[in-house]
Amino acid sequence: MQHKRIVAVVGATGAQGGGLARAILNDPEGGFAVRALTRKPSSPKAQELAQLGAEVVQADLDDPASLRRAFDGAYGAFCVTNFWEHFSPQRETAQAANMAAAAKSVGLHHVIWSTLEDTRRWIPLEDNRMPTLMGKYKVPHFDAKGEADRFFLEAGLPVTLLLTSFYFENFIYFGMGPRRTPNGKLVIAFPMGSEKLPGIAVEDIGKCAYGIFRSGAEFKGKTVGVAAEHLSGAEMAAALSRALGTEVVYEALEPEAYRNLGFPGAQDLGNMFQFNWEFAEDFCKARSIELSRRLNPSLQTFDAWLELNKSRIPIA
Ligand SMILES: NC(=O)c1ccc[n+]([C@@H]2O[C@H](COP(=O)([O-])OP(=O)(O)OC[C@H]3O[C@@H](n4cnc5c(N)ncnc54)[C@H](OP(=O)(O)O)[C@@H]3O)[C@@H](O)[C@H]2O)c1
Repeated sequence: MQHKRIVAVVGATGAQGGGLARAILNDPEGGFAVRALTRKPSSPKAQELAQLGAEVVQADLDDPASLRRAFDGAYGAFCVTNFWEHFSPQRETAQAANMAAAAKSVGLHHVIWSTLEDTRRWIPLEDNRMPTLMGKYKVPHFDAKGEADRFFLEAGLPVTLLLTSFYFENFIYFGMGPRRTPNGKLVIAFPMGSEKLPGIAVEDIGKCAYGIFRSGAEFKGKTVGVAAEHLSGAEMAAALSRALGTEVVYEALEPEAYRNLGFPGAQDLGNMFQFNWEFAEDFCKARSIELSRRLNPSLQTFDAWLELNKSRIPIA
């Protein structure tokens, strides 16, 4: 049997890592094998991956020794953190540092770090166009990831920094689907003016990551941004209207109004949208649709994704 290169996939039971794990497992001739990292190897999602042919191993991002064991003998690793589980940027940065150190200690040949911009490079803390959050962040779930890039870079790892985009799935799971206003209209409301936001189906992030591992040397030491489309709020609303067969309108909120919506993370997301809005050109330029399609020829447009997923969008 051909010797396969093992990719240790952090978050394999989740959305981004799951997309990568399935992309590898669906391509048995591709020369790669999946080692799925999880805190709970007996969970249904982990067992499902085992059934599909993944090696499932126990590891915890807060436990450096478990990461060294899980990365040992692998060719590469996909590294992702889940800010929304704990809302702690410091913990997210520490988890990334643990992954970088483990990757270095076992000598991995290719690491992908799923990151986002450190927005403080554009909006320093003293710039009060948006509030500073948690003492030293503007967009905590972005800044913590961007800050952690240096652990991978300073270790001299063969790393690809993967800039991800707004998941289309946010319309299903993240409470961002259309809401009915008192006058009966369906509305999506984001603070992004008439600027465009890069978006992608989360499964396609994993497929792009697979394309990066397959291309190997071309993307080591590079930053790669992925997106399926760059869409304005009005364009998203128009696509939702076509898919749902009923009019959805886009309402451009003020960032401050979004920050004050009161749900957990509203301030962080309000700042994020404001950053995306004010620096839309940089944000979109960093995420090439063309390159994403080259990495993943089955990349879904928002319309195509909606056709498959419209029945899963809750209308509040
Ligand atoms: N929503 C968006 O539009 C968007 C866009 C770009 C980036 N992001 C970022 O995406 C990240 C989340 O990725 P996702 O959507 O793929 O997550 P997800 O579907 O919620 O899954 C989280 C995964 O992380 C694993 N995990 C979490 N904590 C762990 C720990 N301590 N040790 C080991 N594994 C751990 C979980 O594994 P087990 O539970 O099996 O251990 C699970 O597989 C967030 O940081 C977010 O900021 C989101």
